[in-house]
Amino acid sequence: MGGGIVGLAIAVELKLRGANVTVLSRDFAQAATHAAAGMLAPEAEHLTSPAMRSLCLRSRNLYPDWIRKLESISGQNAGYWPCGILAPVFQEPDRSIAAQWLDATAIHYAQPGLSPAVIGGWWFPEDAQVDNRRLAQTLQSVAESIGVDLQEGVEVEAVRYASLKSEQRQNQVTAIKTANADWQAEHYILATGAWSAALLPIPTQPRKGQMLSVRVPIAAGLPLQRVLYGESAYIVPRRDGRIVIGATSEAAGFMPGNTVAGIHSLLHEAVRLYPALKEFAIEEQWWGFRPETPDEMPILGQTHCQNLTVATGHYRNGILLAPITAQLIADAVWDQRIDPLLPEFSWQRFQQPRTFATISSPTPAEAPVQTLDVVQTAPQIDDRPLTIAGRTFRSRLMTGTGKYRNFAEMQQAIESSGCEIITVAVRRVQTNAPGHQGLAEAIDWQKLWMLPNTAGCQTAEDAIRVARLGREMAKLLGQEDNNFVKLEVIPDAKYLLPDPIGTLQAAEQLVKEGFAVLPYINADPLLAKRLEEAGCATVMPLGSPIGSGQGIRNQANIEIIIENANIPVVVDAGIGTPSEAAQAMEMGADALLINTAIAQAQNPALMGQAMGMAAIAGRMAYLAGRIPVKSIAAPSSPMTGTIG
Ligand code: GLY
Repeated sequence: MGGGIVGLAIAVELKLRGANVTVLSRDFAQAATHAAAGMLAPEAEHLTSPAMRSLCLRSRNLYPDWIRKLESISGQNAGYWPCGILAPVFQEPDRSIAAQWLDATAIHYAQPGLSPAVIGGWWFPEDAQVDNRRLAQTLQSVAESIGVDLQEGVEVEAVRYASLKSEQRQNQVTAIKTANADWQAEHYILATGAWSAALLPIPTQPRKGQMLSVRVPIAAGLPLQRVLYGESAYIVPRRDGRIVIGATSEAAGFMPGNTVAGIHSLLHEAVRLYPALKEFAIEEQWWGFRPETPDEMPILGQTHCQNLTVATGHYRNGILLAPITAQLIADAVWDQRIDPLLPEFSWQRFQQPRTFATISSPTPAEAPVQTLDVVQTAPQIDDRPLTIAGRTFRSRLMTGTGKYRNFAEMQQAIESSGCEIITVAVRRVQTNAPGHQGLAEAIDWQKLWMLPNTAGCQTAEDAIRVARLGREMAKLLGQEDNNFVKLEVIPDAKYLLPDPIGTLQAAEQLVKEGFAVLPYINADPLLAKRLEEAGCATVMPLGSPIGSGQGIRNQANIEIIIENANIPVVVDAGIGTPSEAAQAMEMGADALLINTAIAQAQNPALMGQAMGMAAIAGRMAYLAGRIPVKSIAAPSSPMTGTIG
């Protein structure tokens, strides 16, 4: 799955080792491969993780032989150029970097035409570049000529796997669903870059990069013969006179297009570095989506399914890492040989068990003082993290900020619940509604992820407007890249039931605007499906009316939603007790949102912790698989061998 450079490189490597390989590719032109600049820059990129640095250096070292092999099979030129990378600076840098430093005289001598304000720079002679578009063509041509079945224009819609929920044949991918057919294989490899999170609960998210290119007039020759790696832009000259300038780095979801601000900043930074660019003609501008992961390292190797391997999340280094990725993945899949570096990039690193903090003495004003010291470590559970719109969370409980008696109680309850996502009513915060003055500031947004909600909105238009305000609010509170919105369109004041049509309309618009939309809905399986198709990040069916504490009154419908959903299902509203919270998780819900039952409990901190534990217990029970219900007893001890 995935016809970008990583998918193609793996396909070619496996085919050369003897496998039969099919590549399903939705649209090659959208792959980050096509958008990249092609720098092979393990040193210029200043990678801090030793494992990542080692992976990148190994890949750079594989490049010359890899290119030779591909060029000799295809007869094409892949545009590899070991030209070195020069990183000029405008201010005295931290000189502890182990690299070759050029002072002002040396750098201006080595590279004429740099801005006079450049005071020196680093020289990375072994870093290089490849013309990524030529390389991609070369790889495609190699793949075709050696008999890889390249299926371009085929979009993978879902990975089907047999899970505990449906059958006991656990941990097996059974097929790949596309619009026209199901595809089956002995082994499946997912290399779908920034789109991976749509297919698997895997923490990748798009990081948009805008780029442009200019052309040097033929008469000017090749004034630049090495990559210039500036602080905010880079300039990559090709041997054919084209110069690529990149790149912005934006958390803008899959928002297409070049913006004035993006191109302006690139031109400004590039001209600041290398003023001669001003004279060259602009040739092209484009954008792409890097597959970012939480630690900016790729996710490689086996998954929770033994016949599913991932090779994604290459973020800024996909072109560089293609040869090593192909080698390590082919070693693992075809030869069952695990390179010592591979486990460092395992998906498992995002699946840490949650540890409760010790809490002591929650002291709400009305309740008697209690002391509770609970230290509990969840056992190693083979679970994937909750992933919403590419962001991962260890806790599967979300809470809110409404209806607390005071901020202190709220803070204690949030802490003890262990939740990582807090929903906040944008309108109430904006209007300083009673109890909301200073609320947003009372929460540590460094630690907790804000889920702005559109509570109080009765129409789609209203909710869209408030969602936009919510995005601004999250930005102001320091969450620059937060595009989440909990969509509530609630015209009915008595039961607070959401309007399905208004919700769908608002969701469609907000998805277009790049929001990660988490719609609050009645437990209607068809509506849930429509919202998923519209691109929502989750669905949030209610268990019973908001704040009613009636528990889960629509279990059958929620179960259908869970069975059909390919996005997380968050049971929201109505849960009154930890047993009901656990019940929802046992059913297979991915997460819960609980506010009133915690905020209005006599002891919110204690209830918060109980709900946090219930979410974990319910999840563990779901993963463990319950026994079947029988109509007659089955003795706990065997009946054989008893004394007659
Ligand atoms: N590798 C450079 C970038 O992602 O912009």
